[in-house]
Amino acid sequence: MFNQPMLRDDALKGKTIVVTGGGTGLGKAMGTYFLKLGANLVITSRKLEVLQKTADEMAAETGGKVLAVQCDVRDNEQVENLLIKTLEKFGKVDGLLNNAAGNFISPTERLSANAFSTIIDIVLKGTVNCTLAFGKHWIKAKQPATVLNIVTTYAFTGSAYVVPSACAKGGVLALTRSLAVEWGKYGIRTNAIAPGPFPTKGAWDRLLPGDLAEKFDFKNRVPLNRVGDNQELANLAAFLISDFSSYINGEIITIDGGEWLQGAGQMNGLEAIPTEMWDMLEQMTRSAKGS
Ligand code: HXC
Ligand code: NAP
Repeated sequence: MFNQPMLRDDALKGKTIVVTGGGTGLGKAMGTYFLKLGANLVITSRKLEVLQKTADEMAAETGGKVLAVQCDVRDNEQVENLLIKTLEKFGKVDGLLNNAAGNFISPTERLSANAFSTIIDIVLKGTVNCTLAFGKHWIKAKQPATVLNIVTTYAFTGSAYVVPSACAKGGVLALTRSLAVEWGKYGIRTNAIAPGPFPTKGAWDRLLPGDLAEKFDFKNRVPLNRVGDNQELANLAAFLISDFSSYINGEIITIDGGEWLQGAGQMNGLEAIPTEMWDMLEQMTRSAKGS
């Protein structure tokens, strides 16, 4: 695995970036790397205590400036307050990383209407709320900016047992491609990342509770035979939120070691065939020539 930091040290110098869900997991990892690259950082989620602790850790590790703002992305007033607090502290904002999410596994027929809405509200409407508030500000201020959304590979394939999340992430994917076109004229780029499995407590507790983590080991689904490393994701996120990707707009970049394609290709299951069997199979397929 190659997990060295990718961009040069000043790649995000002078930029202010807001990361929703930035107190834990992948948001924390990406935010920490943005700080190392010279950005000012705002992290936000519902739990202020968690955010404050993370902000202190991040500042100690990187020496950078981190502001923690409590905000439930479902609530427009709180999102407006996030924008105001960001501008008060840093004067401007250049990037929004829509990373906050809610998810859990369940047979769909067991879900209440409220359970379904809860996931749609956090993932799709939360992303919309933040994008709209920040986008309006950028358009009014005539300021170029970048929106980066975190989706999943099942945003394009769909997936059983996480149907609200699949619907919501599919919506975020459509939002990404739509705004890339509509807001391109304002200098606002909109892209997304579709990560494969990157173990985090938040995701694993809700997707692979108990011994499911052993029974359903994600690395077995990945051609590269491993899960992702946070720095691999952070490298991609930093590139996409930086000016180094200035001509990339409307892209959904998958970073999953080939996982979703392995599940998709009709004959991919032949991976299970032992090498020594291929001589016999070759003979059989060759002898089919005359049939
Ligand atoms: C069925 C459930 C449920 C479950 C909650 N509900 N958990 N239904 N099975 N396991 C129902 C509740 O009964 C309620 O409906 C409704 O959902 C809302 O639940 P609350 O607990 O009131 O919601 P809230 O406090 O807002 O919490 C949201 C949450 C929670 C999503 C349920 O898990 C959370 O806070 N998650 C945030 C972090 C997270 O999910 N991280 C993982 C992202 S991983 P009723 O009808 O009873 O009122 C990810 C990875 C993708 O996205 C791909 C990985 C490979
Ligand atoms: P995580 O640690 O649980 O992150 C989710 C974050 O969202 C938490 O910090 C949570 O903080 C925040 N959040 C939840 N509801 C919120 C709300 N209403 N308002 C504001 N913030 C809210 O899980 P993760 O694995 O790092 O996931 C990060 C992102 O990566 C998500 O978009 C997820 O879908 C995506 N993803 C992850 C994987 C993976 O393998 N880990 C794979 C594909 C995609 P609070 O509880 O404090 O609000």
